[in-house]
Amino acid sequence: MQPHPPNSIPPGVFNLEDYERHAREQLPHGVYEYIAGGCGSGITLESNRSAFDRLRLCTRVLQDFSAPVTHQTLLGIDLKHPIMLAPVGHQTLVHPEGELATAQACEISDTPFIASTLSSHTLETIEEHSDGPLWFQLYWQPAREITLDLVRRAERAGYLAIVITVDTPVTGLRYRPQRAGFAMPPEICDANLTGYDAPALRLLSQHDSVIFSGFMADAPTWEDIAWLRQQTDLPLLLKGICHPADGEKARQYELQGVIVSNHGGRSLDGIPASIELLPQVRRTLGGDFPILMDGGVRRGSDVFKALALGANAVLIGRPQLFALTVAGALGVAHMLRLLKEELEITMALAGCPTLNHINQHCIY
Ligand SMILES: Cc1cc2nc3c(=O)[nH]c(=O)nc-3n(C[C@H](O)[C@H](O)[C@H](O)COP(=O)(O)O)c2cc1C
Repeated sequence: MQPHPPNSIPPGVFNLEDYERHAREQLPHGVYEYIAGGCGSGITLESNRSAFDRLRLCTRVLQDFSAPVTHQTLLGIDLKHPIMLAPVGHQTLVHPEGELATAQACEISDTPFIASTLSSHTLETIEEHSDGPLWFQLYWQPAREITLDLVRRAERAGYLAIVITVDTPVTGLRYRPQRAGFAMPPEICDANLTGYDAPALRLLSQHDSVIFSGFMADAPTWEDIAWLRQQTDLPLLLKGICHPADGEKARQYELQGVIVSNHGGRSLDGIPASIELLPQVRRTLGGDFPILMDGGVRRGSDVFKALALGANAVLIGRPQLFALTVAGALGVAHMLRLLKEELEITMALAGCPTLNHINQHCIY
């Protein structure tokens, strides 16, 4: 592959797979493995893709496209197209501007940006560099005061919603980066968390389980979610919902939405693909409750399939890092544009002029 000038789109990038191919050439092997890898044997990672590929589409011809609609109001935001970027931490790992570039790309693409707790820039710095709508992704902290302080900071900085990620109380078994000898470089920091006191060390006896007595002792429960619900008026969404009963519980606890996600196959290997889980969550929650999904969305036709099976919108994870690697903010904006156009082509060829036309009957 020919080297290309930084922050420019190399020739021959026509879809998201092309971005991944170029990024793979550019990134150190360990960094690529850290991003691309799943957990365990990669079964869930693989099914996130193959489950999309197994679905076939129905087409209707001669439909009236005089008033096409790809926008909707979602949690008070005018979402121009049903595609957002998933929260992804440590983005300076692949590009010096990291989240600042990604947020800028979102702004010019009319796409809300979800800043991760583990961003390499603080949520305040990201807000200073972006005039677009921002959401904050919260990883629960061992001390409630710190969790609440993160939410207060997001409120003060004008973030519009909080996405609480609940599927990784412990990190999944990530063999690929381990085998590639990857370690997070020391200069890549968790900018939002610097300045807080480190959590008090738990003294474990040799018979204690590091997992149960260590990590899980600090993991949030539904009681914590109920407590946080009392603390803020911002819309709260739970990310990492795989079971319809947990979706139902999220609604009972007065959350405003859920994200059906298996963390891109990085949490528990053996969970079904997100697109396989989605229909049951939608059936349980009914038509009106906001449901987003992520995991394996790589084409406009995948977005279409997710909408047909009940998602209001999809989130894109790894491809944003690959586009950022290859061409910075321009690459991420280009990637979003490619996906949006692919979705529009799919709608046109399937005979669906508006989002409301996309339903389960569009799946063969
Ligand atoms: C390198 C990397 C870092 C991630 N960091 C976060 C994070 O900080 N917070 C979070 O909620 N999810 C995080 N995720 C998960 C994504 O939000 C998303 O669920 C997943 O990537 C979607 O799958 P996809 O990559 O197949 O699109 C991360 C994923 C990757 C690949």
